[in-house]
Amino acid sequence: RHGSRMFPQLKRGSFNRITDEDVNRFTGIVGETGIKTEELDHYNTDWLNTVSGFTELVISPKSVEEVAAVLRHCNERRLAVVPQGGNTGLVGGSNPVFDEIVLSLERLNNISHIDPYAGIVECEAGVILQNLSDKVGEHGYTVPLDLGARGSCFIGGNLATHAGGLRVVRYGQLRGSVLGMRVVLPDGQILDGRSNMRKDNTGYDIKQLFIGSEGTLGVITDVSLLLPQSPVSVNMALLGCDSFDDVIKCYRLSRQCLGEIVSACEFMDSLCMTSVNDILGLASPLENSHKFYYLVETSGMNMDHDMEKLETCIEKVFESGCATDGVMAASKDQARHMMSLRENIAPALKAVGFNYKYDVSLPIQHMYSLVEQVKHVLRDVPGSKVGAYGHVAEGDVHFNPITPQFDPLALSLIEPFVYEEVSRLKGSISAEHGMGLKKANYLRYSKDPSMIAMMRSLKDVFDPNGIMNPYKLLPWND
Ligand code: FAD
Ligand code: MLT
Ligand code: ZN
Repeated sequence: RHGSRMFPQLKRGSFNRITDEDVNRFTGIVGETGIKTEELDHYNTDWLNTVSGFTELVISPKSVEEVAAVLRHCNERRLAVVPQGGNTGLVGGSNPVFDEIVLSLERLNNISHIDPYAGIVECEAGVILQNLSDKVGEHGYTVPLDLGARGSCFIGGNLATHAGGLRVVRYGQLRGSVLGMRVVLPDGQILDGRSNMRKDNTGYDIKQLFIGSEGTLGVITDVSLLLPQSPVSVNMALLGCDSFDDVIKCYRLSRQCLGEIVSACEFMDSLCMTSVNDILGLASPLENSHKFYYLVETSGMNMDHDMEKLETCIEKVFESGCATDGVMAASKDQARHMMSLRENIAPALKAVGFNYKYDVSLPIQHMYSLVEQVKHVLRDVPGSKVGAYGHVAEGDVHFNPITPQFDPLALSLIEPFVYEEVSRLKGSISAEHGMGLKKANYLRYSKDPSMIAMMRSLKDVFDPNGIMNPYKLLPWND
């Protein structure tokens, strides 16, 4: 489970080691309550339990000025830093690889202001997504992002990874809803790009560089988000399909019939459904098992209107024969239960064995053929399985090859094969989870050398000493 066990060739960078003097200096900035030196396993290990480092210091600032003072000292002393939010990232990006200091955003968790007229929230980066959602919900708004990790992930982590999730089909990607951001650079400079203006064409949109930068350029401390109105009626249908082609047909019909009220289009295969059923005890509302399941959600303002549209949609689906079974949620609780089957795939598969996790975007008709190919290359690996699920509207397929324990042979069969195929099909090797430690060396499969060179130049501008989240996002094996 050691970071350098999965990547034995990875060498520690030439950063200084923390001294007692450094710890005293940091304590002077954030106080005793902002310093942890014991029981750091949670900060050192990723959610998947696949990589871990051995930091001996976690610093949790309480203000932007404290973040700036901490980073300034780290930069002067050449101490490496990993910004950490809720530590739910899935690519080994949020943990130290060696002894990097963890800068946790957990105490920067204030929701500063909600403008109920404009539908804008201003908050700090350490607010848990669920808390943000509950708070804006009191004013009739919702956050334009939702994902299964909502109870643990922070809004700053969502921005740093540019998380996708379940509602992209409805609200678009998160970056479109970000009005302003404040960021601290490694030299302690505070880049104050806070704004609540929806229209602002006054030059370079620098905040966009930090969205998806995975802690490699600076630390996001504050954000303003534009909020959609909360839906009044939410409906859901779960369909059973015989093939992935049928899933695509269901998806096409649901877009045609439901138009503007569609808010999630998700699929999962049979291994995902049985794992969620058997391991987590969440029962499927369908009597029979199916090769594939398609889940469609609507969110709107008029229950009768939305219900009628969904019923018509389901009738058309059955007429066309692309689903052989299906059920509509009869209550809010049933709708929540159906979505929980989909949201709990990640924890259920984690309990099955060691997960090699892939999150790629592909032209929709190729989404599942790659999964079939991976099953084929793993056919002789004892105990191997592959579970696939994902966000159909974005061509984003998650597939988790699983072996009983970490198996270097299995890994060598999957990689670089998967990346070569994705590149051949002109997809993206990371649709929404980011690059982190695990994908960094494969960046060339999705980015032209000219783009990688520009990314390196930008990294040098913001972080000339390379202290911010080393070994992540950009290739470390060149
Ligand atoms: P962390 O994991 O702590 O950090 C992630 C990265 O961001 C690291 O590189 C870290 O250094 C950096 N970072 C964190 N905070 C800051 C900051 N303030 N400033 C600068 N850099 C920072 N992802 C999706 O895209 N879609 C999904 O549907 C989805 N579902 C998930 C379901 C489950 C059950 C789990 C466990 C994860 C899921 N994820 C999903 C992945 C994960 O939740 C997201 O990547 C999330 O955005 C990470 O937020 P976090 O606060 O946990 O960040
Ligand atoms: C999801 O859509 O469930 C998440 O991205 C998590 C995962 O891929 O496992
Ligand atoms: Zn996802």
